[in-house]
Amino acid sequence: MTNNDLIKKAETVLNNNFKEDKGFTIPCEGLYPFQWNWDSGFIAVGFAHYDANKAKREVEALLSAQWENGFIPHIIFHNDSDTYFPGPEFHQSKLHPLASKSHRTTGMTQPPVLGFVLKEMYDIIEDKADILNFIKQNIDKVFNNHQHFYTHRDPNQEGLVFIYHNWESGTDNSPIWDDIWGTMDPPNYKFERRDTTHVDAAQRPTNREYDYYLHLIEIAKAHNYDEAKIAELSPFLVQDPLFNAMLIKSNAALIELYELIGDSEDKIKTLRQWQKKAITRFNEKLFNEKLGAYVHYDLRNEKQIEFLSSSSFAPIFADIPNEERAEIIVKTMMDKFGSEDRYLCASFDPSSDRFNPKKYWRGPVWINLNWLLFKGLKSYGFYDIANRVKDDSVQLIERYGFYEYFDSRKSVKENAGYGGNNFSWSAALLIDLLKC
Ligand code: GLC
Repeated sequence: MTNNDLIKKAETVLNNNFKEDKGFTIPCEGLYPFQWNWDSGFIAVGFAHYDANKAKREVEALLSAQWENGFIPHIIFHNDSDTYFPGPEFHQSKLHPLASKSHRTTGMTQPPVLGFVLKEMYDIIEDKADILNFIKQNIDKVFNNHQHFYTHRDPNQEGLVFIYHNWESGTDNSPIWDDIWGTMDPPNYKFERRDTTHVDAAQRPTNREYDYYLHLIEIAKAHNYDEAKIAELSPFLVQDPLFNAMLIKSNAALIELYELIGDSEDKIKTLRQWQKKAITRFNEKLFNEKLGAYVHYDLRNEKQIEFLSSSSFAPIFADIPNEERAEIIVKTMMDKFGSEDRYLCASFDPSSDRFNPKKYWRGPVWINLNWLLFKGLKSYGFYDIANRVKDDSVQLIERYGFYEYFDSRKSVKENAGYGGNNFSWSAALLIDLLKC
């Protein structure tokens, strides 16, 4: 298949998932019938290449549900659907006094990609005056979102923000959380899963894992999603290197965009202060010398979580490591994840006994992480490895389709594309990979 054919197919996937009436794109039919926060960011990057209007509408639809305190939720329930659990009745975002009045949402967020997505859109879209105008209208909302994070998600005022739920990480059932589940004893909730009617249960989290996920939400709901209370009480309180790298990259993008806009000295000054503190602390607190990479920090139990995942290498996308440290983490990535019989980059350490090549974030390759790694590797001059990440991503999609995640083992003979098919961000980021 030529690259142009692949791009056309990707555009069809995106167009089919776009909901014209509300102006947003579902991640995938059936499995994810609403608007998801970081999915929308990646999707807007794909649209920017061929339909600037849709890219802008995607971002606007997400921001239309921003809370009055700057918080941007992880799911926006623009419509009703009975194919997904847990839906708006479970989350009850309205418990928070500053929740969106116009939209039902969840009370949690996702990796803050919007800042750097706006910059990507500026770089891609040809009509610079028009896109800059769009950015001018929306950039303060993203700034307010970052301000919210640094005010309400950083109890030690150290420049690193916490997540209180695994769904906030974007890497839902990563083995990283297993030891935290070990500290909890939630009830066995009665609920009807919908995801396993769309996808083989072997590729999804277990029911018991869902008990933990629901219990964390119940704790937050019992305190009306008050983040100070959550910081005090949630058994899950983690400083995630992927999440914080996205915030840092978005800070950097906002600085560049405010410079283009002009007349924004105060905001730029504040962003620079956040940035300096965040990058310094990130390198002090989240680097693990023994593993040779960044790791998650369990803020509730005050210790590093000593496992390698694709999130361990994401800081390379946000200019966080110095050159020497970048060499170290790339070497770790290649030694542990990069053998010739594997596609890059597995989402979890293939040498760990927690690795599972088929199960969601416990091992499979995800295209959004590959996209971040590709860009980061290139920016540090690791061109050969960057190209391998790109080629592996393109090959997986060309061979198996626009799946949600893929088996990293090249030896797999049957279909190695798992989860939902016609998955939006796989399509959107493939377009970007093939055009850059
Ligand atoms: C899953 C993924 C998450 C994504 C969502 C919608 O929950 O883990 O990262 O945003 O699906 O695609």
